[in-house]
Amino acid sequence: MTAAPTTPTATDTTLEVENLKVDVLTEKGWATVVDGVSFGVARGETLGIVGESGSGKSVTCLAIAGLMPPGQTRVTADTLRLLEHDLTALSPKEMADIRGPKIAMIFQEPMSSLNPAFTVGDQIAEVLRRHEGLSRKESRKRAIELLDRVGVPSPARRALQYPFEFSGGMRQRVMIAIALACNPDVIVADEPTTALDVTVQAQILELLREIQEEHGMSVIFITHDLGVVADVCDRVLVMYAGQIVEGADLAELFADPQHPYMEGLLAAMPRMDNPSDALVSIPGHPPRVGDMPDGCRFHPRCGYATDACRTDSSPLLERVAPGHTTRCLRHPELTLRGSP
Ligand SMILES: Nc1ncnc2c1ncn2[C@@H]1O[C@H](COP(=O)(O)OP(=O)(O)OP(=O)(O)O)[C@@H](O)[C@H]1O
Ligand SMILES: [Mg+2]
Repeated sequence: MTAAPTTPTATDTTLEVENLKVDVLTEKGWATVVDGVSFGVARGETLGIVGESGSGKSVTCLAIAGLMPPGQTRVTADTLRLLEHDLTALSPKEMADIRGPKIAMIFQEPMSSLNPAFTVGDQIAEVLRRHEGLSRKESRKRAIELLDRVGVPSPARRALQYPFEFSGGMRQRVMIAIALACNPDVIVADEPTTALDVTVQAQILELLREIQEEHGMSVIFITHDLGVVADVCDRVLVMYAGQIVEGADLAELFADPQHPYMEGLLAAMPRMDNPSDALVSIPGHPPRVGDMPDGCRFHPRCGYATDACRTDSSPLLERVAPGHTTRCLRHPELTLRGSP
C-alpha cells in the first residue's frame, strides 16, 4: 500500500511489541505458543504476518488486543504499547474501551462474530453508541453511511436485515464497517478473505486498500497466502513454531529470502506465470506445541541443517541488512532462492 520505513522510529510507531510470550494450558500443563515475538508497526503501514497453520499468528494478535481467554492463557511482554497506552498495565475494562477506537479486528468467519439476533444496522450502531457516544438516531444514520462506504448496495434497506440475509462477502463488508466505525489507529485483519471465493476476495482486498489509504491507519494482515501478502503488504514477518524467523520489506523478502523456511514457502507458492508447475510443499510438519526440537525449530524439515543447527540453543533473530532479520544460523553461507 503506502511506502513506509522498515524499522519504525519511536514517534511514528503506532504499535510496539517486545518479547511477547503466550502460554496456554494443555492436558500436559503450560505450553508456550508464542515465544519472544518483537515488532513495531508504523503509522499507515501494512504489516503482513505469514506462516503455516498453528505458527502463532492469530494468538500473537489476539494477545496484543487482550482477547486471549483468561485463566487458560498467560500473556507477558517487555513492551506492549499502542500509541500512548501501555497495554500491559490496562485492566480488561480499559482494554475493552480501547478495542474499537484504537485497535479493531476483522476475522475470517464473519458469521461467528456477528450476532444472528440483531440487525446489521443495529450492530454497527451499537459500536458507535458505546464508543462514540452517538444518539440512537445519529448512530443509525452513521451505520447506513458506513454500509454505503464499504460497498453494501441499498444500505438503508440492508441495515434493517439480519446477518443470515447477507452473503459471505457482504458479511465481511459489514465486519469491515464495524471495524471502521470508530476510525481505529490499527486494524488487525486475520485471514479476512480466506473463506471467500477469488473474485470476492479481490474486492475485499481492494476495499481494505482504499480504506487504509483514506484513513492512513496501520494494518496488520494475517494470512498464509503469499499471493495476498504480495498484493497488500509493505513489510512482512514470517512466523514458525511461535517465533518470528524472518522479517523484511516485501520486495526484499521475496527477492532475497534469508531463511530456508521462507525459501520453502516461496517454492510452494502457486505461480501465475507457470501454472503447470507442480505444487511444491515443505516436507514434514511443524513441531507440536510443548514439544519443540532442540536448536533451530525448523531443523527437522530443513535441507540445509548441519550439526550446529541441531544443538541445544535456539538461534537468535539476527540483522542481515537494514530492516531485514533472520533466525537462520547459516545465513552468511547460504544463497537461497527467491521468487522471480
Ligand atoms: N485458547 C487456546 N488454548 C490452547 N491452545 C491454543 C489456544 N489458541 C491457540 N492455541 C494453540 O496455539 C498455537 C498457535 O495458534 P494460532 O491460532 O495462533 O495459529 P495460526 O498461526 O493463527 O494458525 P492458522 O493459520 O491455522 O490460523 C496452536 O497450536 C493452537 O492450537
Ligand atoms: Mg489463525
